[in-house]
Amino acid sequence: MTNHDLFRAASNPDTNVNYLQELSKSPDEVVRAAVASNPSTNQETLLSLVGDSSSHVIENLMETQNKFDCSSYEFARTKLSKLVLAKTEDAKFILSLRENTNLNKFISYVDSDIEKQTQWLSNYKNRERVRAEFYFIIKGMGNESLGTVRLYDFQTGSFCWGSWVVNPGSPRKAAIESALNVYEFAFYVLGFSQSHFDVRNENVKVIEFHKRMGAKVIKSNDLDTFFILKKEEYEATRDTYKKFFIQE
Ligand SMILES: CC(C)(COP(=O)(O)OP(=O)(O)OC[C@H]1O[C@@H](n2cnc3c(N)ncnc32)[C@H](O)[C@@H]1OP(=O)(O)O)[C@@H](O)C(=O)NCCC(=O)NCCS
Repeated sequence: MTNHDLFRAASNPDTNVNYLQELSKSPDEVVRAAVASNPSTNQETLLSLVGDSSSHVIENLMETQNKFDCSSYEFARTKLSKLVLAKTEDAKFILSLRENTNLNKFISYVDSDIEKQTQWLSNYKNRERVRAEFYFIIKGMGNESLGTVRLYDFQTGSFCWGSWVVNPGSPRKAAIESALNVYEFAFYVLGFSQSHFDVRNENVKVIEFHKRMGAKVIKSNDLDTFFILKKEEYEATRDTYKKFFIQE
């Protein structure tokens, strides 16, 4: 098959969903971009293109009429906790974490106004619909809310994560599990190849946490330390976290 034939199949709404999924892995960005625009492409395949390294693919993905609209979406590769997409009704829980003075020293200030928080979440939901951001509530397997974590600032091939807060009353391994779920979701569901993020210099415990997971410092300034974790680096240490994962 020529590239032109592949492009025609990727653009055709009658193409079978499984074949569209296969075409989404084509080395040719024009073919992948056509899959991103095709109204018959399923949610799973569209999610797998979010981390694509081609801006052409990302543009088509943002414009596709096939929006992400799965408010009950949840993700878990770990045994004791999962990530569940935040809803506007989570405003109260999120504010309770962000107003906790033991937890908010190194994260950005949020107004203590439930209406404003609900509005913020409602605006976020529009970004979620175009797959530009994913804000999760970290939950125990009994659905109790334990914390938050957010994937945002998607650049071609690289994602940022933050808004990471875990309630101190949570099971001890909730923090490490939530970080593992973030990487599993971003690298294997969204298809990113790298993560970038920054941590306040004074947040020494969290800086140590990221270093232990293999993240590399790329620069720092008076306020923040900037990290990168490449997918290959994550995969090099992934085996050491085996005990946290649901057995495959
Ligand atoms: C950031 C935050 C979620 C981290 O959670 P935490 O519970 O403090 O994280 P810890 O470093 O204690 O790690 C939790 C557990 O996982 C373990 N762990 C961490 N990294 C690990 C690794 N690479 N391998 C194995 N275990 C690991 C720790 O040893 C610890 O277990 P222990 O209690 O048995 O020692 C939490 O401190 C928080 O909510 N902070 C306030 C908000 C904030 O500063 N957010 C970050 C902004 S950048």
